[in-house]
Amino acid sequence: MIISVLNQKGGTGKTTTSIHLAMALGQRGFNTLLLDNDPQGSVGVSLRLEPNRLPDVLLSKNSLASALIAKDSVKVLTGGKDLLEVESRLHRQPEILPGLFREKLCEMRSEYTVIDMAPSRSQLNRAALFYCDTALIPVACDYLSLVGVRDIIEFIDEINRERQDPIRIQSILPTMYDSRSRISQESVKILREHFSHLVAEPIRMTTRAKEAPSHGKTLYEYAKRSSAALDYINFVDHFLQS
Ligand SMILES: Nc1ncnc2c1ncn2[C@@H]1O[C@H](COP(=O)(O)OP(=O)(O)OP(=O)(O)O)[C@@H](O)[C@H]1O
Ligand SMILES: [Mg+2]
Repeated sequence: MIISVLNQKGGTGKTTTSIHLAMALGQRGFNTLLLDNDPQGSVGVSLRLEPNRLPDVLLSKNSLASALIAKDSVKVLTGGKDLLEVESRLHRQPEILPGLFREKLCEMRSEYTVIDMAPSRSQLNRAALFYCDTALIPVACDYLSLVGVRDIIEFIDEINRERQDPIRIQSILPTMYDSRSRISQESVKILREHFSHLVAEPIRMTTRAKEAPSHGKTLYEYAKRSSAALDYINFVDHFLQS
């Protein structure tokens, strides 16, 4: 299963969710690949891994086998600014867009592929959406993030009109949830009113989540008993049952 973790809005927890979903799947013995499809390269920065492995593969500068970086039991293809070169190639040759990832990653046999997406409607994001099976949408528990959810659904619908098999929305994941703040509670309530069963249990806000990347560690390594680490584990349990 190929899962795109996307939201056009910045800072909604896409990278944090991608890393913790992929690492938890890896820990459970699933053959898992984590792709960073963002020129910001935040997966590599957060885990202290060398950047630009995915653009190297997409631009045929490196073979898939030698570009993969092992992080615990997960294989990672890091993003980075070289993805902008891929982006400009997609503008020059839009016909390669739908098949790009499939063609370059066809030797990869993983049970789960998790794609951390950039906060945009870039051609790269479009290419990844042609490749994926499902979408996971992290939404921060604040007003502006809520307003943006419709745009993402619209983006997915736009791609679905060009695909034979539609992308399934796996779940909408409320992130940075602070039970003491009214806006957090309201956000989850509003999401549930609109998207009912698609809305997962929220991931709580914790300063540990902000600290972990500065140590190059996941929350499972840095603060495994923190609320967000426990929430991600719980989320992955539900993910595997759905
Ligand atoms: N549960 C949480 N509690 C507190 N801080 C969090 C939580 N999840 C993520 N963060 C922090 O919020 C910031 C944004 O998170 P993240 O990088 O995962 O978002 P993003 O959607 O990938 O951002 P971008 O759109 O720039 O790619 C980071 O500093 C991250 O450490
Ligand atoms: Mg990110």
